[in-house]
Amino acid sequence: MRLKAQNYTLLRQGEDDPLPRPAERRRWNQRPIWQWIVPGLLALTVVLALIITRATRGEKDSNWDHNSNLPACPQYPALKALSSDREKLEDEVKHTINSDEFFEKSLKNMQGAVQIPTESFDDMGKVGNDTRWDIFKDFHKYLEKTFPLVYSKLEFTPINTYGILLEWKGKDSSLKPYLFMGHQDVVPVPKVTESRWKYPPYSAHYDGRFIWGRGATDCKNVLIGVLEAFETLLEKDFTPERTILAGFGFDEEISGYQGAQYIAQHLEETRGKDSIDLIIDEGGLGVKDMNGAIFALPGLGEKGYFDARITVETAGGHSSVPPDHTGIGILSQIVSAIEAAPYEPELTPVNPYYTTLQCSAEHSPKLDSWLRKTIQKALSSKKAAKEVADYLASKDIFQRYLMQTSQATDLVSGGVKINALPEKVYAVVNHRIAVESRVKDVQANLKSVIESKILTKFPMSLNAFGDVIGNTSTSAVGQIILEEFDEQPLEPSPVSPFDTDAYKIFTGTIKQVMGEDVIVAPSLMTGNTDTKFYWNLSKNIYRFAPVREGGRENAHTVDERIGMKEHIEGVRFYAQMIMNGERS
Ligand SMILES: *[C@@H]1O[C@H](CO)[C@@H](O)[C@H](O)[C@H]1NC(C)=O
Ligand SMILES: *[C@@H]1O[C@H](CO)[C@@H](O)[C@H](O)[C@H]1NC(C)=O
Ligand SMILES: *[C@@H]1O[C@H](CO)[C@@H](O)[C@H](O)[C@H]1NC(C)=O
Ligand SMILES: [Zn+2]
Repeated sequence: MRLKAQNYTLLRQGEDDPLPRPAERRRWNQRPIWQWIVPGLLALTVVLALIITRATRGEKDSNWDHNSNLPACPQYPALKALSSDREKLEDEVKHTINSDEFFEKSLKNMQGAVQIPTESFDDMGKVGNDTRWDIFKDFHKYLEKTFPLVYSKLEFTPINTYGILLEWKGKDSSLKPYLFMGHQDVVPVPKVTESRWKYPPYSAHYDGRFIWGRGATDCKNVLIGVLEAFETLLEKDFTPERTILAGFGFDEEISGYQGAQYIAQHLEETRGKDSIDLIIDEGGLGVKDMNGAIFALPGLGEKGYFDARITVETAGGHSSVPPDHTGIGILSQIVSAIEAAPYEPELTPVNPYYTTLQCSAEHSPKLDSWLRKTIQKALSSKKAAKEVADYLASKDIFQRYLMQTSQATDLVSGGVKINALPEKVYAVVNHRIAVESRVKDVQANLKSVIESKILTKFPMSLNAFGDVIGNTSTSAVGQIILEEFDEQPLEPSPVSPFDTDAYKIFTGTIKQVMGEDVIVAPSLMTGNTDTKFYWNLSKNIYRFAPVREGGRENAHTVDERIGMKEHIEGVRFYAQMIMNGERS
């Protein structure tokens, strides 16, 4: 450096003085006034043009980024103990959870939990009126035996028989509680798939790395992990500053109407709306590498849900003298028309996935440079956002459905006899609704596709969710009915904000436990969790199973398994989260 500077000085000394000489400068100053006007006007024009462009762009993209007061990828620091006493406790807890003794105990806890087949079936009746629920009695007994301090020191309220609500009273009742969620039930193992498992699905075989079995990662690891954290802190005589709650439903896999729904109602009745500081449930995309950086990806929102049944009613008759199109034929054309008009990918700032991408653009060293630039351009440009959406959607289906409403015809029924024309046939289309959209948009879209593609071909009436259009005369071909199917429609969830104290504590805890180099990025879930019943209780809802990539495999299918090392790290996360609840 210094050498170069010397060279430069030497060089400059050898040159003529490049600055205007005093005489020249005086001449410039003495220019007549009219010589200033042309450049002055030019400069003014440029400035005005700039201002106008900015303003119009601002107008066009107004509300484009509702978080524009935040950085593109908000990050908050890893938390540290607030006092030396607390630091000592935190070290002790960490040491305990990382010990061999804890590992052995935790392995047994997990195996015992997985070995109880708490399956929930789609056709299950009410609790108390279907003996298949009885297995949850065994599961409750197992939990009581395994976590004696939890069940002796915390307040346990059974909700609708098998729902579990635990309350660990905090010292400071002015602080809103934290709520940890999970579910006790698992997806059934169909008989035909049993033989395909490497180890029997309820054996909970441990191979030195993974526990294999149904429910190992969806989500007995969450439920057991939370209770292990509670039990460990209770062993240390810890009393939380704020009240800590745990709520475990028992029918999440069949939509939660008997479990989580009742627990949420109970909490809303006893505590009121917006009475919980933050909620952590299963879900999210875990902790994983994205183009060279480690990301924790909690779900801050969920897509909506809507099943539409399409019924076609036509005149019956003998199949030897059929019309050109039977009811089945018309229904097929409707399904084809729907599939021919899929939703478009769209990326907007209300979608947490937009922020996932901003974080990736900022922190992933190996991200493609065109993509990085275009994602960053999307901060102020809808056009760039659309380019990103189209590009990523064409690349893979998982990213596509983080950015658009999905539609899938999953059920079809109709026809009773080979020589009789079908009088009533139906299909059901499942939708997962993009965060920018609503149930009514999906309904309107179905109506418009059928109106423009089917009613123009067939003189029929269409009853679209109660609204009747088309040809209703008795001589018409028949009618089409659009209606809700069994499952209740669900709007996309509110998106949890990422600038609240709760979010800072939550993400600061992730970094404290999993490493300061972890980037926490908000993400979106395409499916729904039990949290759908809890929207009124807290605006800070995080779907996050604290499990690293590689530590959980095959949820909902054969060879489901959880890595013990990753499970233990999850327990540390829960324990640290409880201890960090002293902050507000
Ligand atoms: C109980 O189950 C029986 C047989 O499965 C059914 O007929 C009945 O309607 C059910 N009752 C209630 C209250 O669900
Ligand atoms: C309804 O359909 C019948 C049968 O094709 C046709 O005769 C009639 O003109 C149609 N009515 C209207 C209003 O289009
Ligand atoms: C939330 O509160 C609103 C307004 O009181 C109510 O209509 C809605 O059903 C509640 N949502 C849930 C999931 O309980
Ligand atoms: Zn689950």
